[in-house]
Amino acid sequence: MYHLVVFASGNGSTLQAIIDSIKTQKLEAKIDLVISDNPNSYALKRAEDCHIPTHIIQNKKFEPRDLELSQLLSNYSIDLIVLAGYLKMIGPKLLEKYTIINTHPSLLPKYGGKGMHGMHVHEAVVEAQEKFTGATVHFVNHEYDKGSIISQTQVEVLPSDTAKIVSEKVQAAEKIQLIEVLNQFIHGKI
Ligand code: GAR
Repeated sequence: MYHLVVFASGNGSTLQAIIDSIKTQKLEAKIDLVISDNPNSYALKRAEDCHIPTHIIQNKKFEPRDLELSQLLSNYSIDLIVLAGYLKMIGPKLLEKYTIINTHPSLLPKYGGKGMHGMHVHEAVVEAQEKFTGATVHFVNHEYDKGSIISQTQVEVLPSDTAKIVSEKVQAAEKIQLIEVLNQFIHGKI
């Protein structure tokens, strides 16, 4: 079995897409743990509803958080860590030990970096009158949204699209892309 750990900070719809794909056997994997820095993250509720263990990060500072997570994860046998709307920086202890991927709601390197997440990205895309945006899956390194790109999916932005409409289009495409990428990892193609 292919063992995943998923990190999430917010609504958790990306986590839900992974859970649903496992349930419907589109992914041969198991989520061993869901981790959040946000006690109010709806991702935690989604995990608990499916009897997936959860962990709320205790340490707010970078180095103690990295230590906390590396100690916690040493109890698991992990194939891949997936950042699914997780907004904190990953520290060196995790980076050196695990393969970690992130899904980001833009065509990186556009609209990436600190502060560029969720609706902020889509608002900036609409503001700039982009004709296209999309989603990127990339390896995680020590800089926000700078790791090497694994996959990108493009979606069209119409002049009448609001940021909310753009976010819905991107999130739909993003989930399909992430599940495809996870399947590639599971089948040893990445
Ligand atoms: C997703 O669109 C994800 O790409 C984005 O947050 C959303 C999470 O939604 N991540 C980032 O912006 C990271 N820079 P969710 O909480 O419903 O899964």
